[in-house]
Amino acid sequence: MNKNMRNSLLILGLIILFNSNASAQSYNTLWIPDTLTGTNFNLTIKDTFAQIVNTGNQTITGGINGKFWGPTLIVNKGDVVNMNVQNDLNDSTTIHWHGMHLPAVMDGGPHQIIPPGTLWQPYWEVKNQASTLWYHPHLHEMSQEQITKGIGGFIIVRDAAESALALPRKYGVDDIPIAITDRDFNTQNQFSIVPYGDSIMANMTLRAQYSVPAQYVRLRLLNGAIEASYNLGFSDNRSFYIIGTDGGLLDAPLLINGTTPRYLLSAGERVEILVNFSGQSGSSVFLKAYNQSLGNFIPGGESFPNGPFASFLGHTNYNIVKLNVTNTTANPITSVPTSLVTNTYPLEQDAALTRIITLSDSAGVTSVPILGPNAFILGHQLFNINTINHSIPLNQTEVWELKSTSVFGHPFHIHDVEFKILTINGATPPTYQQGWKDVVLVEGGKTVRFIAKFDDFADAIHPFMYHCHIALHEDEGMMGQFVVTDINAVNEISKEEIPITLFPNPAHDKLFVEFKNQAQSAYYVTVKDFLGRTKLMLPNPYLKDGIDISTLSKGVYTISIMEKASKQVVTKTFIVN
Ligand code: C2O
Ligand code: CU
Ligand code: CU
Repeated sequence: MNKNMRNSLLILGLIILFNSNASAQSYNTLWIPDTLTGTNFNLTIKDTFAQIVNTGNQTITGGINGKFWGPTLIVNKGDVVNMNVQNDLNDSTTIHWHGMHLPAVMDGGPHQIIPPGTLWQPYWEVKNQASTLWYHPHLHEMSQEQITKGIGGFIIVRDAAESALALPRKYGVDDIPIAITDRDFNTQNQFSIVPYGDSIMANMTLRAQYSVPAQYVRLRLLNGAIEASYNLGFSDNRSFYIIGTDGGLLDAPLLINGTTPRYLLSAGERVEILVNFSGQSGSSVFLKAYNQSLGNFIPGGESFPNGPFASFLGHTNYNIVKLNVTNTTANPITSVPTSLVTNTYPLEQDAALTRIITLSDSAGVTSVPILGPNAFILGHQLFNINTINHSIPLNQTEVWELKSTSVFGHPFHIHDVEFKILTINGATPPTYQQGWKDVVLVEGGKTVRFIAKFDDFADAIHPFMYHCHIALHEDEGMMGQFVVTDINAVNEISKEEIPITLFPNPAHDKLFVEFKNQAQSAYYVTVKDFLGRTKLMLPNPYLKDGIDISTLSKGVYTISIMEKASKQVVTKTFIVN
C-alpha cells in the first residue's frame, strides 16, 4: 500500500473511530516505566505486543523486560554497573548507552552486534555526573525500525552533588520521566516504519494524562522520536525552569518565561525542567508541542500532507500529555534552588585543534533507499563501517566545527563525550544551551562549534560514532566514526602462540580460562554453539571467577578469546554437560 492510500485509509479509520467511539476524546494514564536499581541489570529484549490503540488489534512491539520500551535504570556515579543484555528478538540488535562516558567496547554502537539468542555482558564504572541518559538500539540500517518498535529506556544517573540539592526526586510522583515520540499506526494498529508519525505518544501512551502534586515537579523530557523536534511549552504559557540538559545539571536553574516560554527539543536530546503547580490543585494544563512556529527546515516544522514524510503533526501545535494537579505530597519541594552544581568545562585555549565536520546534501552523488539521490552526509561521504574517519589521541581537547551546507536541520550527536557549545554562527549560544550536551541541532546553513575532551578511554580497534540523530538519516549513512588512541599503549602484534588452558572440560556452570603467560589477558570472549550461533559476548571480561555458563544447554561449544595486547584470537572447544 502506498503512503497516499494508507493516509486515506487512516483518515477513514480516524473518522470511524471519532464517530463510533467516545474514547477518542478520553485520556489514558501515562505509563511510568518500572525502575531497576543496584549494580546488576538484567535486560531481556524481545518481540512482543501491547494494546496501545484503545480499540482493535494489539500492536506488535519490541520491549525490554515488558511490552514496549524498557525499565528506567537508576545508577550511581562511581558504581561499577554490570549489564546482562539478552537478545531474544528474532533479529540481531545492539544496545547503546546514549550519553554515557564509557569504553568503546561497552558502548553498544553498530559494531557490538548482539545476534538473536545471545547474552551480551558489558560493564563499566559510571563516570557521568547526575543526568538523564537513555539507551536504544543502534544496529546499522536498522535503528529506525528497532526504535520504532519501542525498544529503549531511560537511565537516571545520581550523584552526591545532585542528591544534596532540594530537588524533586520521587520517581513517578514529583520526578517524572517522559519519553516523547510519534508513531504512525496502520489500519491494523501496527507501526509503520516512517520518519514522522501522526500520533504523539508519551511513554508509549496515546492521549496521555497524569496526576501531578500541587508543588514543584521535575519533568525529565526525552525526545525519542525518529525525526521530529518538539517545540515544548505549556497550554497556559506558564514559565518553567530548566535545571539540566543532556549531560547534567546547569550551574543554576534558568527561568524560561515571556509571552510564549518554549524549549526546542530535538531527536535524542533531554531536558530536565521544574514546573510550579503550587496552589493549583484541581486544575489541568497540557504539555504541548508548538511546532506551528517552527520553520520549514526544522524537523517537525514542515508541512507534508503526502509522500514519505506525510504527517498530521507537521507544522502544527498538539498536546503531548495532560497534567492534572492533585494534592500536595508530604515534604513537597516548594521553591527552586538558587544554584545547582559547579561545572568545569574545557577551555578553548586548551584545544589542540579544530576538527571540521561538514553536514551536507549529497547533491545527486549518492543514492540511498528513502532519501533518494540527495542523501544527507557528514564529511562529504556516506558512512562506511570499515572506514575510521578520525583518530584522536587520548586526553586531547578538541573543538569540533559542525559546518552545515545542508538545507535541513540535523541533530548532531557524538558518543563518548559530553560537550560544551562555544558558538552558533559565531555567537554565544542561548543560556539554555550552555550546559553539557551530547546532541545539538545544527540548523540548515549554520555553523556550530563545540569543545570536548576525549579522556579516560582509548581503544585502537573499537570506534565511537557521531551521527545525525534522525534515525532515518543515520541509517542512510549520515554517520562517521573515530577511535581514541593511547600512544603509550603497547600494541605490538606478537606472532607468538598464546597458551591458554580451559578447565574443567567438560564443564558445568563455570568455565575457567587461564593464560600461561601471566602478562596476557583477555580482551574479548565470544562463545558459540555447535551451529555457530553466538551465545555469550563478554567484552573485557574479568576471568578470575570463571565464566558463568549456567545458561548454556548441554553440548559442544567454541570459545574465542582475543588477547589484550596482541589482539590475537585463540579459539578452543569445550563441552557443557
Ligand atoms: Cu542515541 Cu549513536 O545514539
Ligand atoms: Cu549516543
Ligand atoms: Cu539528519
